[in-house]
Amino acid sequence: MKNCINAINERRSIKFFDTNRSIQRETLKEILTLANTTPSSINLQPWDVIVVETPENKKVLRKCAQNQAKVEEASATLIIIANPRALEENIDRTLDSWIKLGNITESAKDIYKTMANKLYSDDYTSQKRALFAVKNASFFAMSIMIIAKFFGLDTHPMDGFDEEEIKKAFNIDSYKIIPLLIGIGYKSENFQLSERAFRRPLEEFVKFI
Ligand SMILES: Cc1cc2nc3c(=O)[nH]c(=O)nc-3n(C[C@H](O)[C@H](O)[C@H](O)COP(=O)(O)O)c2cc1C
Repeated sequence: MKNCINAINERRSIKFFDTNRSIQRETLKEILTLANTTPSSINLQPWDVIVVETPENKKVLRKCAQNQAKVEEASATLIIIANPRALEENIDRTLDSWIKLGNITESAKDIYKTMANKLYSDDYTSQKRALFAVKNASFFAMSIMIIAKFFGLDTHPMDGFDEEEIKKAFNIDSYKIIPLLIGIGYKSENFQLSERAFRRPLEEFVKFI
């Protein structure tokens, strides 16, 4: 519990990464495996990730991201992708696993499918689907940043980028959405973190009723 609170308190957006240190592929996989336990609507997991780790690819991504140096200086920069078609792609696997686990009966399958299409629309290009995908992919992204901190790593979320340019450069389907990029690596020793900036007091945004 204490470790979890520490990780949340110590996570900061790190502008300067140590370019001499890189993260092992296995560590990145472990972080992504843990993040993959993130909850999602009907367990549909509407997220994909492209781990941009080669110097050439990071250079290309930096160009698409307002030339932000951290994109290139991070050990890897993750392109977080929200997939509005995850309903069609994953619902059978989710429902079948629930049937296998005894959570639902075979006859409930169609009921769930109808409900899912009603909740999230049967049109994967609709706004409802975009919200569904981005909402869940953003939870996934937050998990990555907290888990990375547990591993002694730092991150930087970014939305300063041209989505269309990234899709073109990295061959991402046009109907998919990129909610953010996450730089991941080790903080540069030369970078002095300032104290955490202003956070609104609870009374301003929480209502107990
Ligand atoms: C979705 C998202 C997008 C962000 N985009 C950028 C960005 O493009 N460039 C940048 O320097 N910081 C970006 N930030 C970092 C925020 O400025 C930072 O999280 C905020 O100032 C709070 O600081 P902290 O993360 O250290 O607590 C982004 C943060 C989030 C959550």
